[in-house]
Amino acid sequence: MIADSRAPAGFIWGVSTSSYQIEGAANEDGRGPSIWDTYCRQPGRIAGGDTGDVACDHYHRYAEDVRLMGGLGVDAYRFSIAWPRVMPGGRGDVNEKGLSFYDRLIDALIAASIEPWLCLYHWDLPQALGDLGGWANRDCAQWFADYAALIARRYGDRVKRYATFNEPSVFTLYGYCLGGQAPGLSDRTMLLRAIHHVNLAHGAAVDRLRADVVGASIGAIHNCQPCRPVDKSLENISAARTLDTYWNQAFPDPQLLGQYPPALASAIAPHQRPDDLAQICRRVDWFGLNHYSPHYIKADANNFLGVGFGDAPTEVPRSSLGWPVEPEAFRETLNGIYRRYGLPIYVLENGTASRDEVDSQGAVVDVPRIDYLRAYTAAMFEAMAEGADVRGYFVWSLLDNFEWGSGYGPRFGLVYVDYPTQRRIPKTSFRWYAELVKSTVAHPAA
Ligand code: FCB
Repeated sequence: MIADSRAPAGFIWGVSTSSYQIEGAANEDGRGPSIWDTYCRQPGRIAGGDTGDVACDHYHRYAEDVRLMGGLGVDAYRFSIAWPRVMPGGRGDVNEKGLSFYDRLIDALIAASIEPWLCLYHWDLPQALGDLGGWANRDCAQWFADYAALIARRYGDRVKRYATFNEPSVFTLYGYCLGGQAPGLSDRTMLLRAIHHVNLAHGAAVDRLRADVVGASIGAIHNCQPCRPVDKSLENISAARTLDTYWNQAFPDPQLLGQYPPALASAIAPHQRPDDLAQICRRVDWFGLNHYSPHYIKADANNFLGVGFGDAPTEVPRSSLGWPVEPEAFRETLNGIYRRYGLPIYVLENGTASRDEVDSQGAVVDVPRIDYLRAYTAAMFEAMAEGADVRGYFVWSLLDNFEWGSGYGPRFGLVYVDYPTQRRIPKTSFRWYAELVKSTVAHPAA
C-alpha cells in the first residue's frame, strides 16, 4: 500500500462532504425544509425511496467524524452550511440552534488543527424560496447575499476559506432541464434565468464575504469535464458543444472573464440588466475544481437542449457507477482550466464509488478506490509538473453518504458507514490516503 506524494510542502490535502448528504436531523432544532426534502418525497425520484432525513447522522456525530479526520491527518475539511438550518424560511428569521451547530463543528475542527473550508450552497435551497420561484426568481440573488452576510459575520473570525456555490452547472442543468435533481423541472426560460441569477448571487456573495471577513480567501466550485462526442457525426459533435457551453463555461466565464460564452450570450440577454456582468465578475482567489471523469455525449431529442449521455468506448475502464475512469482527462482538465482562467486551483472533489462490503474480518478492502486515487493524484502531479498551479486536493468523500438520485447505494467514502447502526469503519483507502498525506510532510519542497 505504498503512497508517495509528489506535492510540495504547503500543499493542502483534504476531504469534502455536503450538508444534505450527511447531516440528517432534517426536522430537528428548527431546521426548515429544503427543495431536496420535497424532491425526495416525490414518488420515483430517488432510488429505493431514500431521503436525507437521517443520512450519516453527522448532526449528532460530528465530533466522531472530526476525530476520524484527525486520524487521516488531513489539513482541511470542506463542508457546506444547510441554508434552511440557519434561516429556515431562507430569509428573515435566523435559527440560533442551527447556527450553533456549525459553531461546534468549526471549533472542533480548529481544535484538531483542521482548516474549515465553508461552502455556502450545496444544493439544499430553502423550500420557502423554492416556492417563490427559487433561482428562476432574480430576488434569489439578494436573499443569497443576505445569507452570505449572516455566515460571514457569524464565522468570519474563525473561517477564512469560502466557496460560494458547489457545481452551479450541475444543479441548474439537472434541476431545470435534464431531470434527476431538485426541483425536477424542465423549462428553458427557467434554466436561463437560474443560470444568470446564480451568477449574480455569486458576485453579490463575494462582495459580502470580502466586506465582512478579514483575510477571506474566496472561490466558487465548478465541475469541469471534457465533453466528448460519442462519434464523429455532426449531430453528436454539436450536442457535445452545447453541453460543453452549459456545463463547463456558463458559470466560470462570466464569473472570471466577465462574459458569457458566445453560444449562450444571446439566450441570456433578455434576462440581463446593463451592469450585471460587472457585478458577477468579482475578484476571487482561486478556482475550485470538482472532477470525476469525462462525458461522452450524443444528440437526444428528449430534452430542450438536445443533449444526452452516451457510453465511453468499450476499452475505457469504468467505476461501479459506470463512470469512465480516465486520469488523462483530469490532467487535461487541470491544464485547460489553468490556461483559461490563470487562477490557483484547488481540487475540491475527486473520488469514486465502489461496491464496498464489510468482510469476515470486519474490514472494508476497497482496492478499486485506491487504484483510482493513485492514478488521479499521479495525473494531477503531472499537470503540476507541466505548470498548472494546483494548491490542494480534497477527496470526495470522508464518509459514504446520500448520493442524490442514487440514494445510499453508491459508496464514495474513505470511511464505510453501516447505516442501520451508524457505525463508521475506515476502509483500506483511508489508510492509503493517510500515508499519502504523511508522505508530503516527509518530502519538503524541492
Ligand atoms: C458531485 C457532487 C457531490 C457528490 C459527487 C459524487 O457532483 O458535488 O455532492 O454527489 O458528485
